[in-house]
Amino acid sequence: MSVRQQLAPSIRQALAAAGLPTDTGTHLNPSGRPELGDYQINAALAAAKALKANPRELAARIVENLQLDEICAKVEIAGPGFINLRLNNHWLADHLAATARSPRLGLASATPPQTIVIDYSSPNVAKEMHVGHMRGTILGDVLARILEFQGHRVIRQNHIGDWGTQFGMLLAELSELAEQTDAAVALADLEQFYRRAKVRFDQDPAFAARARQNVVRLQSGDAECLALWRQFIDISMAHVQAVYQKLGVTLRPQDTRGESAYNADLPAVVADLQRQSLAVEDAGAQVVFLPELADKDGTPAAFIVQKADGGYLYATTDLAALRYRASTLKADRCLYFIDARQSLHMQQLFATARRAGWVDERVELTHCAYGTIMGKDGRPLKTRSGDTVKLIDLLDEAIQRAYRLVEQKSPHLSLEEKDEVAKAVGIGAIKYADLSKTRTQDYRFDWDAMLRFEGNTAPYLQYGYTRIMSLLRKADTDLDTALHFTPAIGEAERPLALALCQFPDAVEQVVAKAMPHELCNYLFALAGRFMAFYEACPILKDSVTLETRNARLQLAALTARTLNRGLEFLGIRTVERM
Ligand code: ARG
Repeated sequence: MSVRQQLAPSIRQALAAAGLPTDTGTHLNPSGRPELGDYQINAALAAAKALKANPRELAARIVENLQLDEICAKVEIAGPGFINLRLNNHWLADHLAATARSPRLGLASATPPQTIVIDYSSPNVAKEMHVGHMRGTILGDVLARILEFQGHRVIRQNHIGDWGTQFGMLLAELSELAEQTDAAVALADLEQFYRRAKVRFDQDPAFAARARQNVVRLQSGDAECLALWRQFIDISMAHVQAVYQKLGVTLRPQDTRGESAYNADLPAVVADLQRQSLAVEDAGAQVVFLPELADKDGTPAAFIVQKADGGYLYATTDLAALRYRASTLKADRCLYFIDARQSLHMQQLFATARRAGWVDERVELTHCAYGTIMGKDGRPLKTRSGDTVKLIDLLDEAIQRAYRLVEQKSPHLSLEEKDEVAKAVGIGAIKYADLSKTRTQDYRFDWDAMLRFEGNTAPYLQYGYTRIMSLLRKADTDLDTALHFTPAIGEAERPLALALCQFPDAVEQVVAKAMPHELCNYLFALAGRFMAFYEACPILKDSVTLETRNARLQLAALTARTLNRGLEFLGIRTVERM
């Protein structure tokens, strides 16, 4: 439990006794002015408006009812009606000792656990995985990791784009090549393969005819065509899995349930919508009109679920997937990590599924939209020649750049260590640069900024971690031993101690809003507090008593564990030295 969570019941009680609304969630916060207090209750100010009362009087009433003698050294009303709380140092030390003893670092388990479906990554596998799918992949993975740690039943769904007319052309190309060479070799560079097939499709009418035939054969379940398609998907997914491996993403092959998995359901989905008179014919197509999503002229949004030629669409597959997630997977919540540019599609999807009665109101549906990664020119990131950036190339470049830095900064490391550090730092830098930005906003991709060892970056946090590990080594102790030392809190230790108590709050915030940058900000602040503590509090000097030394080593060890756990939630590795 965090301090905030421990204070909450007493505060709620005091608010109730004072006759005020008891929503402490939004009214208890870490103080912005540490000299005035550690935490601040602003419930009096918040309630005063509605009650037309004097906020200072309300604050006095709350304070009268507060029973925090054991936890707080001081409770004070300030300014227009804030209540400042200063924690008692002994209580703080005990609290940290308990946190340190817990393998979960004080992080609560979910009660009750929910079934949470997370749709993320979901690349289109006709082509190589490109940078456009990076954000969803790493953001979704953070939520999957944290929710799983909390004890929820997390079901990852990699809704890959593995179906559609472009496969007709790809299979036409593959069937010819497969005669001469191994399919895996032919598909070693998917991007090139796609381009070659496209050129032929555009230029060679016989080839185009074969491609179209393939589409029909595929859709009618022709065994030979399906086998070829399967082969294509398997090879393409092996590329995707290699990216996940390099990126440190927890998606496994069994998490894949692509668009094609819903093929057989599509007629039933449309039929059900028709039966309920939700889907109606419009110019030959089947369309669901949604007045709740009307544009500013009042024209209802049109969600097309079947084309006039009978073909199904991205929307139909998504409806089938959502129906499956609600009814078969029994999801309590569905999170979709998808580009913000698909917001309208997502709203239409959710509205249609709700109206069709496939998803009842207790099930939470959230589109966790993310912004675009921009290049230096302020436009979506592209290679110098204007092509899409292959994700694997970007990751390799990150590792190479990190390797050059490691060679400069840590020439003493062995070759293997340099390799390991370069991977952790390079991949960590890319992921952290992304995760530390507000999810919903675009950001500019900047190698130099993300690889800096100062500031809010992965290398800074990873380096901070190694400094603590090296301190522990010098002290001839390790994480486990140090954690059993008794912490003691004096003025110089307080800021760090308080930050350590706030880890569960940061994690809660990430979960509540699906916003990993909250955790990044927290870890960055924690590392900063540690650095200040380390400057102010000598540990290994001869003048320091054994008791003080151990008390401070305990804080250092807890900081290391918190950094490590936090970075693990972000899918970023730490190393012991660099
Ligand atoms: N394959 C899609 C794309 O690349 C993303 C799919 C996201 N998931 C979903 N259920 N629609 O844009």
